[in-house]
Amino acid sequence: MSAITLQSLSKQYTKEKRTLDNVSLEIKDKEFLVLLGPSGCGKSTLLRMIAGIEDITHGTVTIGDVCVNDVEPKDRGVAMVFQNYALYPHMTVYENMDYGLKIKKVKKAEREERIHAAADILQITHLLKRLPSQLSGGQKQRVAIGRAIVKEPKVFLMDEPLSNLDAKLRNEMRIEIKKLHERLNSTFIYVTHDQVEAVTLGDRIAIMAEGKFKQIGTPMEIIECPVDMFVANFISSPPINYIEAELVERYGQTYADIDGLLVETNLPLDTIRNHPNVIAGIRPEHCFITEETNNTYAMKVTFTEIIGTDILLHLAYKNTTFLVKKSFDHMYAKGEMVNVGLLANHVLLFDQKTQLNVRSIR
Ligand SMILES: Nc1ncnc2c1ncn2[C@@H]1O[C@H](COP(=O)(O)OP(=O)(O)OP(=O)(O)O)[C@@H](O)[C@H]1O
Ligand SMILES: [Mg+2]
Repeated sequence: MSAITLQSLSKQYTKEKRTLDNVSLEIKDKEFLVLLGPSGCGKSTLLRMIAGIEDITHGTVTIGDVCVNDVEPKDRGVAMVFQNYALYPHMTVYENMDYGLKIKKVKKAEREERIHAAADILQITHLLKRLPSQLSGGQKQRVAIGRAIVKEPKVFLMDEPLSNLDAKLRNEMRIEIKKLHERLNSTFIYVTHDQVEAVTLGDRIAIMAEGKFKQIGTPMEIIECPVDMFVANFISSPPINYIEAELVERYGQTYADIDGLLVETNLPLDTIRNHPNVIAGIRPEHCFITEETNNTYAMKVTFTEIIGTDILLHLAYKNTTFLVKKSFDHMYAKGEMVNVGLLANHVLLFDQKTQLNVRSIR
Protein backbone atom coordinates (compact mmCIF):
# COMPACT_ATOMS: atom_id res chain seq x y z
CA MET A 1 0.00 0.00 0.00
CA SER A 2 1.41 3.35 -0.96
CA ALA A 3 -1.46 5.72 -0.36
CA ILE A 4 -0.27 9.06 0.99
CA THR A 5 -2.09 11.19 3.48
CA LEU A 6 -1.20 14.79 4.15
CA GLN A 7 -2.84 16.05 7.27
CA SER A 8 -2.96 19.75 8.18
CA LEU A 9 0.47 20.25 6.69
CA SER A 10 2.16 23.62 7.08
CA LYS A 11 5.57 25.01 6.24
CA GLN A 12 6.89 28.24 7.62
CA TYR A 13 10.31 29.39 6.43
CA THR A 14 9.90 32.83 7.99
CA LYS A 15 7.85 34.21 10.89
CA GLU A 16 5.68 36.42 8.67
CA LYS A 17 4.48 33.95 6.08
CA ARG A 18 3.29 30.39 5.76
CA THR A 19 4.61 28.96 2.51
CA LEU A 20 2.29 26.00 2.96
CA ASP A 21 -0.83 26.71 4.94
CA ASN A 22 -2.62 23.81 6.60
CA VAL A 23 -3.16 21.58 3.58
CA SER A 24 -4.76 18.15 3.71
CA LEU A 25 -5.04 15.61 0.92
CA GLU A 26 -5.41 11.87 0.49
CA ILE A 27 -3.57 10.45 -2.50
CA LYS A 28 -4.76 6.99 -3.39
CA ASP A 29 -2.52 3.99 -3.88
CA LYS A 30 -1.25 3.96 -7.51
CA GLU A 31 -2.86 7.31 -8.25
CA PHE A 32 -1.23 9.86 -10.55
CA LEU A 33 -1.69 13.15 -8.74
CA VAL A 34 -0.55 16.41 -10.30
CA LEU A 35 0.25 19.50 -8.23
CA LEU A 36 -0.44 22.48 -10.48
CA GLY A 37 0.05 26.12 -9.63
CA PRO A 38 1.94 29.32 -10.37
CA SER A 39 5.57 29.89 -9.50
CA GLY A 40 6.15 30.29 -5.78
CA CYS A 41 2.85 28.74 -4.63
CA GLY A 42 4.63 25.98 -2.68
CA LYS A 43 4.59 22.97 -5.03
CA SER A 44 8.25 22.02 -4.64
CA THR A 45 8.12 22.68 -0.91
CA LEU A 46 5.22 20.25 -0.55
CA LEU A 47 6.94 17.60 -2.66
CA ARG A 48 10.16 17.98 -0.71
CA MET A 49 8.28 17.59 2.57
CA ILE A 50 6.82 14.31 1.33
CA ALA A 51 10.31 13.21 0.24
CA GLY A 52 11.69 14.14 3.65
CA ILE A 53 14.26 16.66 2.45
CA GLU A 54 12.35 19.60 3.93
CA ASP A 55 11.29 19.84 7.57
CA ILE A 56 7.61 19.86 8.44
CA THR A 57 6.53 22.86 10.54
CA HIS A 58 3.11 21.41 11.45
CA GLY A 59 1.06 18.38 10.46
CA THR A 60 1.83 14.87 9.31
CA VAL A 61 2.76 12.93 6.18
CA THR A 62 1.66 9.30 6.14
CA ILE A 63 2.84 6.83 3.50
CA GLY A 64 0.98 3.54 3.59
CA ASP A 65 0.08 3.19 7.24
CA VAL A 66 3.21 4.84 8.59
CA CYS A 67 3.59 8.43 9.70
CA VAL A 68 6.94 9.30 8.10
CA ASN A 69 7.59 12.66 9.77
CA ASP A 70 10.59 11.20 11.54
CA VAL A 71 11.60 8.65 8.89
CA GLU A 72 14.81 9.29 6.91
CA PRO A 73 14.27 10.17 3.22
CA LYS A 74 16.02 7.01 2.07
CA ASP A 75 13.73 4.85 4.18
CA ARG A 76 10.45 6.38 2.98
CA GLY A 77 10.12 4.25 -0.15
CA VAL A 78 10.06 7.34 -2.35
CA ALA A 79 12.26 8.43 -5.24
CA MET A 80 12.43 11.99 -6.50
CA VAL A 81 13.15 13.27 -10.00
CA PHE A 82 14.31 16.87 -10.07
CA GLN A 83 13.84 19.54 -12.71
CA ASN A 84 17.58 20.00 -13.19
CA TYR A 85 18.25 16.21 -13.38
CA ALA A 86 21.00 16.53 -10.73
CA LEU A 87 23.17 13.83 -12.34
CA TYR A 88 26.71 13.36 -11.05
CA PRO A 89 28.87 14.77 -13.87
CA HIS A 90 31.90 12.56 -13.23
CA MET A 91 29.92 9.32 -13.23
CA THR A 92 28.72 7.37 -16.25
CA VAL A 93 25.02 6.82 -16.82
CA TYR A 94 25.38 3.35 -15.33
CA GLU A 95 27.18 4.67 -12.25
CA ASN A 96 24.60 7.41 -11.82
CA MET A 97 21.85 4.81 -11.74
CA ASP A 98 23.90 2.52 -9.52
CA TYR A 99 24.81 5.09 -6.90
CA GLY A 100 21.60 5.11 -4.84
CA LEU A 101 21.44 1.32 -4.88
CA LYS A 102 25.00 0.98 -3.62
CA ILE A 103 24.18 3.29 -0.73
CA LYS A 104 21.22 1.08 0.09
CA LYS A 105 23.62 -1.91 -0.03
CA VAL A 106 21.70 -3.76 -2.72
CA LYS A 107 23.71 -6.77 -3.99
CA LYS A 108 25.72 -6.30 -7.17
CA ALA A 109 23.85 -8.87 -9.27
CA GLU A 110 20.51 -7.35 -8.37
CA ARG A 111 21.78 -3.84 -9.05
CA GLU A 112 22.90 -4.90 -12.50
CA GLU A 113 19.60 -6.53 -13.22
CA ARG A 114 17.58 -3.49 -12.12
CA ILE A 115 19.74 -1.03 -14.06
CA HIS A 116 19.47 -3.04 -17.27
CA ALA A 117 15.72 -3.46 -16.85
CA ALA A 118 15.26 0.29 -16.30
CA ALA A 119 17.57 1.16 -19.19
CA ASP A 120 15.52 -1.15 -21.37
CA ILE A 121 12.23 0.55 -20.42
CA LEU A 122 13.73 3.99 -21.06
CA GLN A 123 15.67 2.90 -24.18
CA ILE A 124 19.00 4.14 -22.89
CA THR A 125 20.91 0.86 -22.84
CA HIS A 126 23.29 2.15 -25.53
CA LEU A 127 24.11 5.17 -23.35
CA LEU A 128 25.08 3.38 -20.15
CA LYS A 129 28.82 4.01 -20.56
CA ARG A 130 28.51 7.70 -21.40
CA LEU A 131 29.03 10.67 -19.11
CA PRO A 132 26.14 13.13 -18.60
CA SER A 133 28.04 15.77 -20.61
CA GLN A 134 27.77 13.46 -23.63
CA LEU A 135 23.96 13.32 -23.47
CA SER A 136 21.15 15.46 -24.89
CA GLY A 137 18.63 17.06 -22.54
CA GLY A 138 16.05 14.37 -23.23
CA GLN A 139 18.59 11.62 -22.61
CA LYS A 140 19.67 13.21 -19.32
CA GLN A 141 16.02 13.34 -18.31
CA ARG A 142 15.63 9.64 -19.03
CA VAL A 143 18.67 8.88 -16.90
CA ALA A 144 17.24 10.94 -14.04
CA ILE A 145 14.02 8.95 -14.29
CA GLY A 146 16.02 5.71 -14.59
CA ARG A 147 17.84 6.53 -11.40
CA ALA A 148 14.45 6.77 -9.67
CA ILE A 149 13.07 3.59 -11.28
CA VAL A 150 15.94 1.37 -10.13
CA LYS A 151 15.14 2.19 -6.53
CA GLU A 152 11.78 0.49 -7.09
CA PRO A 153 10.02 3.09 -4.99
CA LYS A 154 6.44 2.84 -3.86
CA VAL A 155 6.10 6.52 -4.64
CA PHE A 156 7.57 8.62 -7.44
CA LEU A 157 7.91 12.32 -6.75
CA MET A 158 8.60 14.37 -9.87
CA ASP A 159 9.31 18.09 -9.78
CA GLU A 160 8.80 19.63 -13.23
CA PRO A 161 10.88 16.89 -14.82
CA LEU A 162 10.18 18.03 -18.38
CA SER A 163 10.59 21.77 -18.10
CA ASN A 164 14.10 21.79 -19.58
CA LEU A 165 13.07 19.98 -22.74
CA ASP A 166 11.97 21.42 -26.07
CA ALA A 167 8.28 21.23 -26.99
CA LYS A 168 8.45 18.09 -29.15
CA LEU A 169 10.51 16.13 -26.65
CA ARG A 170 8.23 17.24 -23.84
CA ASN A 171 5.27 15.75 -25.67
CA GLU A 172 7.13 12.48 -26.20
CA MET A 173 8.38 12.26 -22.63
CA ARG A 174 4.95 13.12 -21.30
CA ILE A 175 3.56 10.03 -22.99
CA GLU A 176 6.53 7.99 -21.72
CA ILE A 177 5.81 9.08 -18.15
CA LYS A 178 2.16 8.16 -18.51
CA LYS A 179 3.12 4.71 -19.80
CA LEU A 180 5.68 4.35 -17.04
CA HIS A 181 2.98 4.96 -14.47
CA GLU A 182 0.78 2.26 -16.01
CA ARG A 183 3.69 -0.13 -16.11
CA LEU A 184 5.17 0.43 -12.67
CA ASN A 185 1.99 0.43 -10.64
CA SER A 186 3.36 3.04 -8.22
CA THR A 187 1.88 6.20 -6.82
CA PHE A 188 3.05 9.31 -8.69
CA ILE A 189 3.04 12.90 -7.47
CA TYR A 190 3.99 15.22 -10.28
CA VAL A 191 4.62 18.94 -9.99
CA THR A 192 4.10 21.25 -12.93
CA HIS A 193 2.90 24.70 -13.83
CA ASP A 194 1.92 23.53 -17.31
CA GLN A 195 -1.81 22.90 -17.54
CA VAL A 196 -1.51 20.71 -20.65
CA GLU A 197 0.86 18.42 -18.77
CA ALA A 198 -1.51 18.42 -15.80
CA VAL A 199 -4.63 17.41 -17.70
CA THR A 200 -2.91 14.77 -19.84
CA LEU A 201 -1.10 13.09 -16.96
CA GLY A 202 -3.22 13.47 -13.86
CA ASP A 203 -5.86 11.10 -12.57
CA ARG A 204 -6.52 14.07 -10.32
CA ILE A 205 -5.11 17.56 -10.20
CA ALA A 206 -4.61 19.63 -7.06
CA ILE A 207 -4.53 23.30 -8.01
CA MET A 208 -2.45 25.37 -5.60
CA ALA A 209 -2.23 29.08 -4.92
CA GLU A 210 -0.33 30.79 -2.13
CA GLY A 211 0.27 27.67 -0.11
CA LYS A 212 -3.28 26.30 -0.23
CA PHE A 213 -5.28 23.97 -2.43
CA LYS A 214 -7.81 25.86 -4.50
CA GLN A 215 -9.44 22.80 -6.04
CA ILE A 216 -8.77 19.08 -6.18
CA GLY A 217 -10.48 17.00 -8.83
CA THR A 218 -10.24 15.03 -12.06
CA PRO A 219 -9.15 17.03 -15.11
CA MET A 220 -12.75 16.87 -16.37
CA GLU A 221 -14.18 18.21 -13.09
CA ILE A 222 -11.72 21.08 -13.03
CA ILE A 223 -12.19 22.00 -16.68
CA GLU A 224 -15.97 21.77 -16.58
CA CYS A 225 -16.49 23.34 -13.18
CA PRO A 226 -13.55 25.44 -11.99
CA VAL A 227 -14.39 26.71 -8.50
CA ASP A 228 -13.36 30.26 -9.27
CA MET A 229 -11.82 32.55 -11.85
CA PHE A 230 -8.29 31.82 -10.64
CA VAL A 231 -8.70 28.13 -11.43
CA ALA A 232 -10.50 28.90 -14.71
CA ASN A 233 -7.61 31.14 -15.77
CA PHE A 234 -5.02 28.62 -14.77
CA ILE A 235 -6.56 25.66 -16.52
CA SER A 236 -7.42 27.50 -19.75
CA SER A 237 -5.02 27.64 -22.66
CA PRO A 238 -5.46 29.68 -24.78
CA PRO A 239 -6.76 32.17 -22.19
CA ILE A 240 -10.45 32.23 -21.35
CA ASN A 241 -12.57 35.23 -22.43
CA TYR A 242 -14.53 37.14 -19.81
CA ILE A 243 -17.60 39.30 -20.38
CA GLU A 244 -19.71 40.99 -17.70
CA ALA A 245 -23.23 39.58 -17.64
CA GLU A 246 -26.50 39.52 -15.74
CA LEU A 247 -28.68 36.63 -14.69
CA VAL A 248 -32.25 37.26 -15.84
CA GLU A 249 -35.55 35.42 -15.95
CA ARG A 250 -36.90 34.57 -19.41
CA TYR A 251 -39.74 32.16 -20.15
CA GLY A 252 -39.69 31.04 -16.49
CA GLN A 253 -36.02 30.00 -16.71
CA THR A 254 -32.69 31.49 -15.66
CA TYR A 255 -30.78 32.96 -18.56
CA ALA A 256 -27.49 34.82 -18.69
CA ASP A 257 -27.68 38.07 -20.57
CA ILE A 258 -24.09 38.33 -21.76
CA ASP A 259 -23.84 41.80 -23.18
CA GLY A 260 -27.09 41.37 -25.08
CA LEU A 261 -26.55 37.72 -26.01
CA LEU A 262 -28.96 35.38 -24.21
CA VAL A 263 -27.74 32.00 -23.00
CA GLU A 264 -29.75 29.34 -21.18
CA THR A 265 -28.12 28.34 -17.89
CA ASN A 266 -30.19 25.55 -16.32
CA LEU A 267 -29.67 27.29 -12.99
CA PRO A 268 -32.55 27.50 -10.47
CA LEU A 269 -34.39 30.82 -10.51
CA ASP A 270 -33.18 31.84 -7.04
CA THR A 271 -29.65 32.13 -8.45
CA ILE A 272 -30.80 35.39 -10.03
CA ARG A 273 -31.42 36.88 -6.59
CA ASN A 274 -28.20 35.53 -5.09
CA HIS A 275 -25.91 36.43 -7.98
CA PRO A 276 -27.56 39.03 -10.20
CA ASN A 277 -24.24 40.29 -11.55
CA VAL A 278 -21.93 37.69 -12.96
CA ILE A 279 -18.93 37.36 -15.22
CA ALA A 280 -19.31 34.92 -18.09
CA GLY A 281 -16.20 32.88 -18.82
CA ILE A 282 -16.06 31.57 -22.38
CA ARG A 283 -13.16 29.46 -23.60
CA PRO A 284 -11.93 30.23 -27.13
CA GLU A 285 -12.77 26.67 -28.21
CA HIS A 286 -16.35 27.10 -27.05
CA CYS A 287 -17.16 29.83 -29.57
CA PHE A 288 -18.00 29.51 -33.24
CA ILE A 289 -18.01 31.74 -36.30
CA THR A 290 -21.33 31.87 -38.10
CA GLU A 291 -23.30 33.68 -40.80
CA GLU A 292 -26.08 34.10 -38.22
CA THR A 293 -26.47 37.66 -36.99
CA ASN A 294 -29.12 36.84 -34.40
CA ASN A 295 -27.84 36.23 -30.82
CA THR A 296 -24.20 36.57 -31.91
CA TYR A 297 -21.57 39.29 -31.54
CA ALA A 298 -20.16 41.17 -34.50
CA MET A 299 -16.41 41.49 -33.99
CA LYS A 300 -13.50 42.65 -36.08
CA VAL A 301 -10.48 40.42 -36.76
CA THR A 302 -7.28 42.04 -35.50
CA PHE A 303 -4.87 39.11 -35.79
CA THR A 304 -4.86 35.47 -36.85
CA GLU A 305 -2.59 33.09 -34.99
CA ILE A 306 -1.98 29.70 -36.56
CA ILE A 307 -1.57 26.91 -34.02
CA GLY A 308 -0.81 23.71 -35.90
CA THR A 309 -4.02 22.75 -37.65
CA ASP A 310 -6.12 25.27 -35.70
CA ILE A 311 -6.33 29.02 -35.78
CA LEU A 312 -6.80 31.42 -32.94
CA LEU A 313 -8.68 34.50 -34.06
CA HIS A 314 -7.93 37.65 -32.09
CA LEU A 315 -11.03 39.81 -32.28
CA ALA A 316 -11.68 43.34 -31.10
CA TYR A 317 -14.34 43.37 -28.41
CA LYS A 318 -14.89 46.75 -26.74
CA ASN A 319 -11.43 47.65 -25.43
CA THR A 320 -10.21 44.09 -25.10
CA THR A 321 -9.29 41.12 -27.25
CA PHE A 322 -11.70 38.22 -27.59
CA LEU A 323 -10.23 34.90 -28.70
CA VAL A 324 -11.92 32.25 -30.84
CA LYS A 325 -10.24 28.93 -31.61
CA LYS A 326 -11.34 26.97 -34.65
CA SER A 327 -10.04 24.57 -37.24
CA PHE A 328 -7.84 26.10 -39.90
CA ASP A 329 -10.04 25.93 -42.95
CA HIS A 330 -10.11 29.55 -43.97
CA MET A 331 -7.70 32.47 -43.65
CA TYR A 332 -9.28 35.55 -42.14
CA ALA A 333 -8.18 39.00 -43.25
CA LYS A 334 -7.25 41.69 -40.78
CA GLY A 335 -10.21 44.03 -40.39
CA GLU A 336 -12.76 41.43 -41.53
CA MET A 337 -16.03 41.38 -39.56
CA VAL A 338 -17.24 38.02 -38.22
CA ASN A 339 -20.23 36.89 -36.16
CA VAL A 340 -19.34 35.01 -33.00
CA GLY A 341 -21.73 32.59 -31.29
CA LEU A 342 -21.28 30.87 -27.92
CA LEU A 343 -21.80 27.21 -27.02
CA ALA A 344 -24.30 27.72 -24.21
CA ASN A 345 -23.50 24.47 -22.35
CA HIS A 346 -19.91 25.54 -21.87
CA VAL A 347 -20.39 29.07 -20.62
CA LEU A 348 -19.04 29.45 -17.07
CA LEU A 349 -20.59 31.95 -14.70
CA PHE A 350 -18.75 33.61 -11.84
CA ASP A 351 -20.09 35.95 -9.17
CA GLN A 352 -18.76 39.43 -9.90
CA LYS A 353 -17.91 40.18 -6.27
CA THR A 354 -16.40 36.91 -5.10
CA GLN A 355 -15.23 35.52 -8.45
CA LEU A 356 -16.61 32.14 -7.34
CA ASN A 357 -18.34 29.84 -9.82
CA VAL A 358 -22.08 30.25 -9.16
CA ARG A 359 -22.57 26.53 -9.80
CA SER A 360 -20.05 25.36 -7.22
CA ILE A 361 -21.20 27.69 -4.42
CA ARG A 362 -24.85 26.73 -4.60
N1 LIG B 1 14.68 27.72 1.94
C1 LIG B 1 13.77 28.70 1.82
N2 LIG B 1 13.77 29.75 2.67
C2 LIG B 1 12.84 30.73 2.58
N3 LIG B 1 11.84 30.75 1.68
C3 LIG B 1 11.79 29.72 0.80
C4 LIG B 1 12.74 28.65 0.84
N4 LIG B 1 12.44 27.78 -0.15
C5 LIG B 1 11.33 28.28 -0.78
N5 LIG B 1 10.95 29.43 -0.19
C6 LIG B 1 9.79 30.26 -0.60
O1 LIG B 1 8.61 29.48 -0.49
C7 LIG B 1 7.74 29.77 -1.55
C8 LIG B 1 7.35 28.50 -2.28
O2 LIG B 1 8.51 27.99 -2.93
P1 LIG B 1 8.45 26.68 -3.84
O3 LIG B 1 9.83 26.41 -4.30
O4 LIG B 1 7.76 25.60 -3.09
O5 LIG B 1 7.52 27.18 -5.04
P2 LIG B 1 7.06 26.42 -6.36
O6 LIG B 1 5.57 26.39 -6.34
O7 LIG B 1 7.76 25.12 -6.48
O8 LIG B 1 7.52 27.43 -7.50
P3 LIG B 1 8.21 27.16 -8.93
O9 LIG B 1 7.08 26.83 -9.88
O10 LIG B 1 8.84 28.49 -9.25
O11 LIG B 1 9.20 26.05 -8.80
C9 LIG B 1 8.42 30.81 -2.41
O12 LIG B 1 7.91 32.07 -2.08
C10 LIG B 1 9.87 30.68 -2.03
O13 LIG B 1 10.55 31.89 -2.17
MG1 LIG C 1 9.26 24.42 -7.79
